[in-house]
Amino acid sequence: MANPKIGENITVCGYTFTWTKDHLSREEIEPFRQQYDILGAAALEKIQAIRQESEMKSTDVYEILREHHKSDPVLAKFWDEVHTVPKWVDWDQLARGQTFFYRYAIANIVGFALQGFMAENSAAPGVVEVLVRTGGFSTRMLLGRLLETFQWLIQVTQSAASIKPGGEGHIATVRVRLLHSSVRHRVLQLCQRRPDYFDTQTYGIPVNTLDSIHSISTFCCNPMWLQLPTFGSIPLDKGQIADYIAVFRYLGYLLGTPTSYFETVEKAKCTMESFLVHEVRTTETSRTVAYNFLECVTNLPQPFSVSSGFVAAGSRWINGDALCDELELERPGLIYRLSFVGFVVFATVLAWLQRIVPALDPYVVNFFRTKLYTGIVQRKSRTRFDFKYVPQMGRKTGKEAHAAKGQGSNKIMDIGLAEMVFLGILGGSVLGAVGAVVGLFKYTPNLLSLGRAA
Ligand code: HEM
Repeated sequence: MANPKIGENITVCGYTFTWTKDHLSREEIEPFRQQYDILGAAALEKIQAIRQESEMKSTDVYEILREHHKSDPVLAKFWDEVHTVPKWVDWDQLARGQTFFYRYAIANIVGFALQGFMAENSAAPGVVEVLVRTGGFSTRMLLGRLLETFQWLIQVTQSAASIKPGGEGHIATVRVRLLHSSVRHRVLQLCQRRPDYFDTQTYGIPVNTLDSIHSISTFCCNPMWLQLPTFGSIPLDKGQIADYIAVFRYLGYLLGTPTSYFETVEKAKCTMESFLVHEVRTTETSRTVAYNFLECVTNLPQPFSVSSGFVAAGSRWINGDALCDELELERPGLIYRLSFVGFVVFATVLAWLQRIVPALDPYVVNFFRTKLYTGIVQRKSRTRFDFKYVPQMGRKTGKEAHAAKGQGSNKIMDIGLAEMVFLGILGGSVLGAVGAVVGLFKYTPNLLSLGRAA
């Protein structure tokens, strides 16, 4: 698609904005498709060589890096880079930004799943082509992979200490950077054997700089403009937005991704919008990823399981019908749509209560911070971000039915427990609103006459 004209109004995924001279042109971002994290790749190569030569007991890439960074110049450079804190980092700001994730945890998680993953990730051609080759997107593995991503997100939002050099979130991020290098190395290795294994001309180098800037933007910009604003009117201010983006600017730095695109809120917003225009394109692979995601979340154990109608209703609410039709999502019935409206009411009312009742906010933040840490980071199967889903020649994830389909599901009328609660919330709010209006009509004349008498 050609670049839009300055002043042109554009709508992508149900989001409308005006193209300006500050947006990124296709020509500006295109070269990034053939660029990647060279230092991370060189460090991984060294680590692999050390692993082979020394017959070390450990196969853990981070451990090898820590042991050998003093003796190897490439590893020293990599180690120094990830342990040098850029001048622009303000730890107090990052700590505030980390809190944002937990303040609106429910809206953030649902937004990430339905917009960040279902729409933007599925529709980013270069990203999905890599993902279906790692096998982590088969329905058997997908839940595990999503939990791994959340594990990282929770580790990097625990506290400022966790992302300072040597902290838990910092180490996790360095591991993820090396994991990305492993994926790239493996896909390129297979390409050498069979050039048609992965089309680097069209999709670029696997895990390239363009896709990485896009992914950082999806993590930190999408909640601000594409996700939370669609849930009614969750109170967001520029300070909160700037703080959260600053967290991901720093994480992008640790991941070897250019950070200038996230220097200010304005730049970050333009970056997100530019990528919406240039990179959101559904393909057959997008439909596969969306289909498998749906299979995965609709077959979760109760009380986490949701119906495909609810996911489709939420996705259509956030992303608009055009994209969801392209992803072949169903057109859900009224009950599912109402249930999602109940969720929106819940998320908005909770957010406003946190704003109006100051004592509630730290309680909610602390509740989600500790519960998610215990439930996800401390789970038995927590990951060290090892290279598990190794791409293999001839193996590519296609649409798959979930193995647990039809077994052990206690869903009544194909509606999950959470959905029933949201329907209840909606019903309660409607009754409350009707009661308030009736009360107003009933008592206003009395109040007016009281006022006149006074
Ligand atoms: C720069 C922003 C990015 C962030 C913050 C990020 C985050 C993560 C995290 C936390 C993991 C480990 C957990 C998991 O397996 O899901 C991971 C793994 C992975 N990422 Fe990324 N990612 C980014 C960019 C990308 C891009 C651009 C691609 C391109 C396709 C990509 C492809 C992958 C793959 C294939 C894995 C799984 C490797 C495996 O477990 O075998 N990532 N990423």
